Amino acid sequence: MDMLRGTKIAILGTGNIGGALLGGLLKASLAESKDITATCATEDHLAEISQRFGVRTTQDNRAAVETGDLVLLCVKPVTLPLVLEEIREVAAQRQRLYISVAAGIQIRSIEQRLGPQAAVIRAMPNIPALVDAAATAIAFGQHARDEHGALAEEVFGAVGTVCRVQESLMDAVTGLSGSGPAYIYMVIEALTDGGVKMGLSRQTALRLATQTVLGSAKLVQETGVHPAVLKDQVTTPGGTAIAAVHELESGGLRPMLINAVVTATRRSQELSQLGG
Ligand SMILES: NC(=O)c1ccc[n+]([C@@H]2O[C@H](COP(=O)([O-])OP(=O)(O)OC[C@H]3O[C@@H](n4cnc5c(N)ncnc54)[C@H](OP(=O)(O)O)[C@@H]3O)[C@@H](O)[C@H]2O)c1
Repeated sequence: MDMLRGTKIAILGTGNIGGALLGGLLKASLAESKDITATCATEDHLAEISQRFGVRTTQDNRAAVETGDLVLLCVKPVTLPLVLEEIREVAAQRQRLYISVAAGIQIRSIEQRLGPQAAVIRAMPNIPALVDAAATAIAFGQHARDEHGALAEEVFGAVGTVCRVQESLMDAVTGLSGSGPAYIYMVIEALTDGGVKMGLSRQTALRLATQTVLGSAKLVQETGVHPAVLKDQVTTPGGTAIAAVHELESGGLRPMLINAVVTATRRSQELSQLGG
């Protein structure tokens, strides 16, 4: 750890994800504001970032990359080709690590645009990065070495947990953890509705439902106990939880969630083919 210290970092596109990474790096003291340059499209947003984080800001992606050893590509997928074109010449001058979070944009298309001097890592974080609880998967390009991977792990480790995968599995990651927050928000909302139907105030029901999801996940994460074992522990014979589990099984909760991941993965594969 602590390999990031002193590394000059350029964040191109400091929106939701770029801003979360910036905030996470500073909060975890992995980087100092003097070592970071952040870019955005609009003056107003740049002023806000500069005020909030005390980092250097500019609309000039090229100038930002020139100052950086590590470049975080956090613009929208549709904008990434334009940004890569903008920084192409400066990228050719010396080796840097580029980490792209752009959904559906393959490593090889970034490598083709930036040339062999570019070590590229592709990452798929998710939106809980905003509260330092992201699930991120990273995949290596052909010029990315183990030390680049360690740097990427430090960056995403600042905002949550990180796994290494083959790039061919990035669509599956998108279907599971990339899109997964949407599924879990529906679960929280539906549990809340259940509580309201049975007489709880919406505020109380939402609070209880949210903490139930958070706490149950934390118990799996912190104990390492398989969720099926934990489920068995809370289902008393003849009790309330097993009656509800029967209802969930009859309604097809498991196949429905598996299908959700499969469908989102397939959609990601289709979009990746369009995005290159
Ligand atoms: N959000 C997610 O849950 C999530 C999850 C995984 C991966 N991702 C990936 O993360 C990337 C960013 O998503 P996001 O949700 O953070 O989007 P976002 O909030 O819209 O951020 C994009 C940022 O890019 C800036 N920008 C636009 N054009 C630019 C340019 N030419 N040069 C420099 N900056 C420019 C925008 O600036 P202004 O603010 O000034 O307009 C904005 O701050 C995407 O590629 C997405 O696929 C997102």
